[in-house]
Amino acid sequence: MSKKIKTIGVLTPGGDAPGMNTAIRAVVRTAIYNGLKVYGIERGWQGMIDGKIINMELSTVGGIINRGGTILHTHRCPEFVQKGMRKKAFDNLRAYNIEGLVVIGGDGSLRAAYELYKEYDLPIINIPASIDNDIYGTDYSIGFDTAVNTAVEAIDKIRDTATSHERVFVIEVMGRSNGFIALDVGLTAGAEAIIIPEVAFNLDAIGQKLRYGQQRGKSSFIVVVAEGAAKASEVATALKKKTTLDVRVSILGHIQRGGSPTALSREVACKLGARAVQLLIEGKGALMVGIQSDKIIETPTEEVARRKKKIDLGAYKLANMLAT
Ligand code: F6P
Repeated sequence: MSKKIKTIGVLTPGGDAPGMNTAIRAVVRTAIYNGLKVYGIERGWQGMIDGKIINMELSTVGGIINRGGTILHTHRCPEFVQKGMRKKAFDNLRAYNIEGLVVIGGDGSLRAAYELYKEYDLPIINIPASIDNDIYGTDYSIGFDTAVNTAVEAIDKIRDTATSHERVFVIEVMGRSNGFIALDVGLTAGAEAIIIPEVAFNLDAIGQKLRYGQQRGKSSFIVVVAEGAAKASEVATALKKKTTLDVRVSILGHIQRGGSPTALSREVACKLGARAVQLLIEGKGALMVGIQSDKIIETPTEEVARRKKKIDLGAYKLANMLAT
Protein backbone atom coordinates (compact mmCIF):
# COMPACT_ATOMS: atom_id res chain seq x y z
CA MET A 1 0.00 0.00 0.00
CA SER A 2 1.28 3.49 -0.84
CA LYS A 3 2.02 5.77 2.09
CA LYS A 4 -0.55 8.41 2.97
CA ILE A 5 0.16 11.72 1.35
CA LYS A 6 0.38 14.78 3.65
CA THR A 7 1.56 17.68 1.50
CA ILE A 8 0.64 18.63 -2.05
CA GLY A 9 1.43 21.41 -4.51
CA VAL A 10 -0.75 23.06 -7.13
CA LEU A 11 0.32 25.00 -10.22
CA THR A 12 -1.13 26.47 -13.44
CA PRO A 13 1.53 26.21 -16.19
CA GLY A 14 1.07 27.16 -19.87
CA GLY A 15 -1.53 29.54 -21.27
CA ASP A 16 -4.03 30.74 -18.68
CA ALA A 17 -7.71 29.87 -19.01
CA PRO A 18 -10.81 31.34 -17.33
CA GLY A 19 -11.75 29.01 -14.48
CA MET A 20 -8.19 28.22 -13.38
CA ASN A 21 -8.79 30.25 -10.21
CA THR A 22 -11.97 28.31 -9.55
CA ALA A 23 -9.95 25.10 -9.86
CA ILE A 24 -7.19 26.38 -7.53
CA ARG A 25 -9.87 27.19 -4.97
CA ALA A 26 -11.36 23.69 -5.29
CA VAL A 27 -7.96 22.03 -4.92
CA VAL A 28 -6.88 24.11 -1.92
CA ARG A 29 -10.16 23.80 -0.05
CA THR A 30 -10.57 20.06 -0.72
CA ALA A 31 -6.99 19.48 0.44
CA ILE A 32 -7.41 21.49 3.66
CA TYR A 33 -10.80 19.89 4.34
CA ASN A 34 -9.04 16.52 4.21
CA GLY A 35 -6.22 17.61 6.52
CA LEU A 36 -3.52 18.09 3.87
CA LYS A 37 -0.98 20.88 3.70
CA VAL A 38 -1.09 22.65 0.35
CA TYR A 39 1.42 24.88 -1.43
CA GLY A 40 0.93 27.01 -4.51
CA ILE A 41 3.73 27.05 -7.08
CA GLU A 42 3.86 30.43 -8.81
CA ARG A 43 4.62 31.02 -12.52
CA GLY A 44 4.13 27.37 -13.55
CA TRP A 45 7.20 25.21 -14.25
CA GLN A 46 9.43 28.29 -14.15
CA GLY A 47 8.40 28.94 -10.55
CA MET A 48 9.07 25.31 -9.67
CA ILE A 49 12.62 25.67 -11.03
CA ASP A 50 13.07 28.99 -9.21
CA GLY A 51 11.54 27.75 -5.94
CA LYS A 52 8.60 30.18 -6.01
CA ILE A 53 6.49 28.18 -3.58
CA ILE A 54 3.89 29.77 -1.33
CA ASN A 55 1.67 28.59 1.49
CA MET A 56 -2.02 28.30 0.58
CA GLU A 57 -4.71 28.83 3.22
CA LEU A 58 -8.51 28.77 3.01
CA SER A 59 -8.41 32.57 2.80
CA THR A 60 -5.76 32.65 0.02
CA VAL A 61 -8.44 31.41 -2.37
CA GLY A 62 -11.28 33.58 -1.07
CA GLY A 63 -13.05 35.78 -3.62
CA ILE A 64 -11.43 34.18 -6.69
CA ILE A 65 -14.15 31.79 -7.90
CA ASN A 66 -15.27 34.37 -10.48
CA ARG A 67 -11.90 35.85 -11.45
CA GLY A 68 -10.29 35.20 -14.84
CA GLY A 69 -6.56 34.47 -15.17
CA THR A 70 -4.66 32.66 -12.44
CA ILE A 71 -3.65 34.03 -9.03
CA LEU A 72 -0.64 31.71 -9.21
CA HIS A 73 0.50 33.38 -12.45
CA THR A 74 2.00 31.46 -15.35
CA HIS A 75 4.94 31.59 -17.71
CA ARG A 76 5.88 29.76 -20.90
CA CYS A 77 8.83 27.57 -19.85
CA PRO A 78 10.52 25.74 -22.75
CA GLU A 79 13.53 25.05 -20.44
CA PHE A 80 11.49 22.42 -18.61
CA VAL A 81 12.30 19.93 -21.41
CA GLN A 82 15.83 19.85 -19.96
CA LYS A 83 16.42 17.05 -17.48
CA GLY A 84 18.64 19.29 -15.35
CA MET A 85 15.87 21.86 -14.97
CA ARG A 86 13.40 19.17 -13.92
CA LYS A 87 15.91 17.96 -11.32
CA LYS A 88 16.18 21.51 -9.94
CA ALA A 89 12.37 21.72 -9.84
CA PHE A 90 12.04 18.37 -8.08
CA ASP A 91 14.67 19.33 -5.48
CA ASN A 92 12.62 22.43 -4.69
CA LEU A 93 9.49 20.31 -4.20
CA ARG A 94 11.45 18.03 -1.88
CA ALA A 95 12.62 20.99 0.20
CA TYR A 96 8.94 21.67 0.97
CA ASN A 97 8.08 17.97 1.47
CA ILE A 98 5.67 18.14 -1.47
CA GLU A 99 4.68 14.53 -2.19
CA GLY A 100 2.10 15.02 -4.93
CA LEU A 101 1.02 17.63 -7.47
CA VAL A 102 -2.13 18.89 -9.10
CA VAL A 103 -1.25 20.40 -12.47
CA ILE A 104 -3.95 22.63 -13.93
CA GLY A 105 -3.06 23.22 -17.58
CA GLY A 106 -3.16 22.25 -21.23
CA ASP A 107 -1.63 19.59 -23.43
CA GLY A 108 1.98 20.79 -23.08
CA SER A 109 1.71 20.97 -19.29
CA LEU A 110 0.34 17.45 -19.18
CA ARG A 111 3.31 16.11 -21.18
CA ALA A 112 5.78 17.95 -18.95
CA ALA A 113 4.04 16.57 -15.86
CA TYR A 114 4.31 13.07 -17.25
CA GLU A 115 8.08 13.42 -17.66
CA LEU A 116 8.37 14.48 -14.02
CA TYR A 117 6.22 11.56 -12.93
CA LYS A 118 8.33 9.05 -14.86
CA GLU A 119 11.65 10.40 -13.58
CA TYR A 120 10.77 10.80 -9.92
CA ASP A 121 7.74 8.57 -9.40
CA LEU A 122 5.96 11.67 -8.12
CA PRO A 123 2.16 11.29 -8.01
CA ILE A 124 0.66 13.89 -10.35
CA ILE A 125 -2.99 14.44 -11.26
CA ASN A 126 -3.65 16.67 -14.26
CA ILE A 127 -6.70 18.86 -14.66
CA PRO A 128 -7.38 19.89 -18.27
CA ALA A 129 -7.45 23.68 -18.50
CA SER A 130 -7.08 25.34 -21.88
CA ILE A 131 -9.35 27.46 -24.00
CA ASP A 132 -8.35 25.23 -26.96
CA ASN A 133 -10.29 22.17 -25.68
CA ASP A 134 -7.89 19.95 -27.58
CA ILE A 135 -7.10 17.47 -24.81
CA TYR A 136 -8.03 13.82 -25.25
CA GLY A 137 -10.09 12.24 -22.44
CA THR A 138 -12.46 15.06 -21.63
CA ASP A 139 -15.44 16.71 -23.32
CA TYR A 140 -14.50 20.02 -21.72
CA SER A 141 -11.31 21.63 -20.59
CA ILE A 142 -11.58 24.51 -18.13
CA GLY A 143 -11.93 27.83 -19.95
CA PHE A 144 -13.21 26.55 -23.29
CA ASP A 145 -16.84 27.45 -22.69
CA THR A 146 -15.86 30.93 -21.50
CA ALA A 147 -13.65 31.56 -24.54
CA VAL A 148 -16.42 30.41 -26.88
CA ASN A 149 -18.94 32.70 -25.18
CA THR A 150 -16.52 35.64 -25.34
CA ALA A 151 -15.97 35.09 -29.06
CA VAL A 152 -19.68 34.64 -29.79
CA GLU A 153 -20.52 37.85 -27.92
CA ALA A 154 -17.88 39.69 -29.96
CA ILE A 155 -19.18 38.25 -33.24
CA ASP A 156 -22.77 39.20 -32.39
CA LYS A 157 -21.52 42.80 -32.10
CA ILE A 158 -19.53 42.56 -35.32
CA ARG A 159 -22.63 41.18 -37.04
CA ASP A 160 -24.47 44.45 -36.22
CA THR A 161 -21.96 46.58 -38.06
CA ALA A 162 -21.50 43.97 -40.81
CA THR A 163 -25.25 44.10 -41.52
CA SER A 164 -25.39 47.91 -41.47
CA HIS A 165 -22.53 48.18 -43.98
CA GLU A 166 -23.41 45.03 -45.95
CA ARG A 167 -19.98 43.56 -45.41
CA VAL A 168 -18.21 40.24 -45.07
CA PHE A 169 -16.19 39.83 -41.86
CA VAL A 170 -13.44 37.26 -41.67
CA ILE A 171 -12.90 36.60 -37.97
CA GLU A 172 -9.87 34.75 -36.65
CA VAL A 173 -10.19 32.84 -33.40
CA MET A 174 -7.57 31.03 -31.29
CA GLY A 175 -7.15 27.27 -30.91
CA ARG A 176 -3.49 26.70 -31.75
CA SER A 177 -3.39 23.85 -34.33
CA ASN A 178 -7.00 22.74 -33.71
CA GLY A 179 -10.44 23.94 -34.69
CA PHE A 180 -12.48 23.21 -31.55
CA ILE A 181 -13.03 26.88 -30.67
CA ALA A 182 -13.71 27.88 -34.29
CA LEU A 183 -16.26 25.10 -34.76
CA ASP A 184 -18.26 25.86 -31.62
CA VAL A 185 -18.07 29.60 -32.24
CA GLY A 186 -19.05 29.22 -35.90
CA LEU A 187 -22.01 26.98 -35.11
CA THR A 188 -23.37 29.17 -32.31
CA ALA A 189 -22.72 32.54 -33.99
CA GLY A 190 -24.32 31.35 -37.24
CA ALA A 191 -21.18 31.84 -39.34
CA GLU A 192 -21.75 31.37 -43.07
CA ALA A 193 -18.42 29.53 -43.31
CA ILE A 194 -16.03 27.91 -40.84
CA ILE A 195 -12.41 27.22 -41.70
CA ILE A 196 -10.70 24.69 -39.44
CA PRO A 197 -7.46 22.71 -39.78
CA GLU A 198 -9.28 19.37 -39.57
CA VAL A 199 -11.27 19.91 -42.81
CA ALA A 200 -9.86 20.93 -46.20
CA PHE A 201 -11.37 24.24 -47.27
CA ASN A 202 -12.26 25.61 -50.67
CA LEU A 203 -12.34 29.39 -51.04
CA ASP A 204 -14.16 29.15 -54.39
CA ALA A 205 -16.99 27.25 -52.70
CA ILE A 206 -17.11 29.79 -49.86
CA GLY A 207 -17.21 32.65 -52.43
CA GLN A 208 -20.04 30.89 -54.22
CA LYS A 209 -21.97 30.50 -50.96
CA LEU A 210 -21.61 34.22 -50.25
CA ARG A 211 -22.76 35.19 -53.76
CA TYR A 212 -25.75 32.90 -53.47
CA GLY A 213 -26.64 34.51 -50.14
CA GLN A 214 -26.27 37.96 -51.69
CA GLN A 215 -28.67 37.01 -54.50
CA ARG A 216 -31.21 35.98 -51.87
CA GLY A 217 -30.89 39.38 -50.18
CA LYS A 218 -28.52 38.57 -47.33
CA SER A 219 -26.62 41.62 -46.21
CA SER A 220 -23.89 40.31 -43.93
CA PHE A 221 -21.60 37.33 -43.81
CA ILE A 222 -19.36 35.95 -41.10
CA VAL A 223 -16.47 33.65 -41.91
CA VAL A 224 -14.81 32.15 -38.81
CA VAL A 225 -11.20 31.06 -39.28
CA ALA A 226 -9.22 28.98 -36.80
CA GLU A 227 -5.73 30.44 -36.34
CA GLY A 228 -4.26 27.02 -37.11
CA ALA A 229 -6.03 26.74 -40.48
CA ALA A 230 -5.27 29.98 -42.30
CA LYS A 231 -4.49 33.64 -41.81
CA ALA A 232 -7.67 35.74 -41.73
CA SER A 233 -5.98 38.43 -43.85
CA GLU A 234 -5.21 35.93 -46.63
CA VAL A 235 -8.73 34.51 -46.58
CA ALA A 236 -10.09 38.08 -46.80
CA THR A 237 -7.85 38.96 -49.76
CA ALA A 238 -9.03 35.85 -51.60
CA LEU A 239 -12.72 36.47 -50.81
CA LYS A 240 -12.50 40.10 -51.99
CA LYS A 241 -11.94 38.74 -55.49
CA LYS A 242 -14.95 36.42 -55.27
CA THR A 243 -17.70 38.81 -54.15
CA THR A 244 -18.76 42.40 -54.75
CA LEU A 245 -19.12 42.97 -51.02
CA ASP A 246 -16.65 44.85 -48.87
CA VAL A 247 -14.53 42.50 -46.73
CA ARG A 248 -13.04 43.29 -43.31
CA VAL A 249 -10.85 41.31 -40.92
CA SER A 250 -11.10 40.99 -37.17
CA ILE A 251 -8.64 39.00 -35.07
CA LEU A 252 -10.17 38.35 -31.67
CA GLY A 253 -6.85 37.36 -30.05
CA HIS A 254 -6.23 37.27 -26.34
CA ILE A 255 -9.61 38.63 -25.25
CA GLN A 256 -10.64 34.99 -25.66
CA ARG A 257 -8.37 34.03 -22.76
CA GLY A 258 -9.67 36.59 -20.26
CA GLY A 259 -12.81 37.39 -18.36
CA SER A 260 -14.95 35.90 -15.65
CA PRO A 261 -15.49 32.15 -16.16
CA THR A 262 -18.95 31.00 -17.23
CA ALA A 263 -21.01 28.73 -14.96
CA LEU A 264 -19.95 25.73 -17.07
CA SER A 265 -16.22 26.54 -16.81
CA ARG A 266 -16.67 26.98 -13.04
CA GLU A 267 -18.62 23.74 -12.65
CA VAL A 268 -15.96 21.74 -14.48
CA ALA A 269 -13.27 23.42 -12.34
CA CYS A 270 -15.02 22.72 -9.02
CA LYS A 271 -15.68 19.07 -9.82
CA LEU A 272 -12.29 18.25 -11.35
CA GLY A 273 -10.37 20.19 -8.68
CA ALA A 274 -11.99 18.25 -5.86
CA ARG A 275 -11.60 14.90 -7.66
CA ALA A 276 -7.91 15.50 -8.37
CA VAL A 277 -7.15 15.91 -4.66
CA GLN A 278 -9.26 12.88 -3.79
CA LEU A 279 -7.20 10.78 -6.20
CA LEU A 280 -3.92 11.90 -4.60
CA ILE A 281 -5.35 10.97 -1.20
CA GLU A 282 -6.25 7.54 -2.62
CA GLY A 283 -2.59 7.11 -3.59
CA LYS A 284 -3.09 7.57 -7.34
CA GLY A 285 -0.84 9.40 -9.79
CA ALA A 286 -0.24 9.78 -13.54
CA LEU A 287 -3.90 10.36 -14.26
CA MET A 288 -5.92 13.12 -15.86
CA VAL A 289 -9.39 13.85 -14.57
CA GLY A 290 -12.01 14.79 -17.13
CA ILE A 291 -15.71 15.03 -17.85
CA GLN A 292 -17.32 12.69 -20.36
CA SER A 293 -21.09 12.62 -20.92
CA ASP A 294 -21.55 14.51 -17.61
CA LYS A 295 -19.52 11.98 -15.60
CA ILE A 296 -16.18 12.59 -13.94
CA ILE A 297 -13.68 10.09 -15.27
CA GLU A 298 -9.94 9.42 -15.06
CA THR A 299 -7.62 8.53 -17.93
CA PRO A 300 -3.95 7.51 -17.61
CA THR A 301 -1.74 10.48 -18.48
CA GLU A 302 0.23 8.28 -20.86
CA GLU A 303 -2.94 7.58 -22.86
CA VAL A 304 -3.96 11.25 -22.94
CA ALA A 305 -0.49 12.22 -24.19
CA ARG A 306 -0.55 9.52 -26.89
CA ARG A 307 -4.05 10.01 -28.30
CA LYS A 308 -5.55 12.85 -30.29
CA LYS A 309 -8.96 14.30 -29.59
CA LYS A 310 -11.28 14.11 -32.59
CA ILE A 311 -13.36 17.02 -33.79
CA ASP A 312 -17.11 16.56 -34.21
CA LEU A 313 -17.56 16.49 -37.99
CA GLY A 314 -21.32 16.16 -37.52
CA ALA A 315 -21.35 19.58 -35.87
CA TYR A 316 -19.28 20.97 -38.76
CA LYS A 317 -21.81 19.69 -41.32
CA LEU A 318 -24.70 20.97 -39.21
CA ALA A 319 -23.20 24.46 -39.00
CA ASN A 320 -22.78 24.57 -42.78
CA MET A 321 -26.29 23.30 -43.39
CA LEU A 322 -27.93 25.78 -41.00
CA ALA A 323 -26.03 28.85 -42.18
CA THR A 324 -27.09 28.93 -45.83
O1 F6P B 1 -3.19 27.42 -25.80
C1 F6P B 1 -3.93 28.56 -25.58
C2 F6P B 1 -3.59 29.64 -26.59
O2 F6P B 1 -4.37 30.77 -26.28
C3 F6P B 1 -3.74 29.24 -28.05
O3 F6P B 1 -5.08 29.27 -28.48
C4 F6P B 1 -2.84 30.25 -28.72
O4 F6P B 1 -2.37 29.77 -29.96
C5 F6P B 1 -1.72 30.40 -27.73
O5 F6P B 1 -2.23 30.01 -26.46
C6 F6P B 1 -1.14 31.78 -27.63
O6 F6P B 1 -0.09 31.75 -26.72
P1 F6P B 1 0.66 33.05 -26.18
O7 F6P B 1 -0.29 33.80 -25.31
O8 F6P B 1 1.83 32.51 -25.42
O9 F6P B 1 1.03 33.83 -27.39
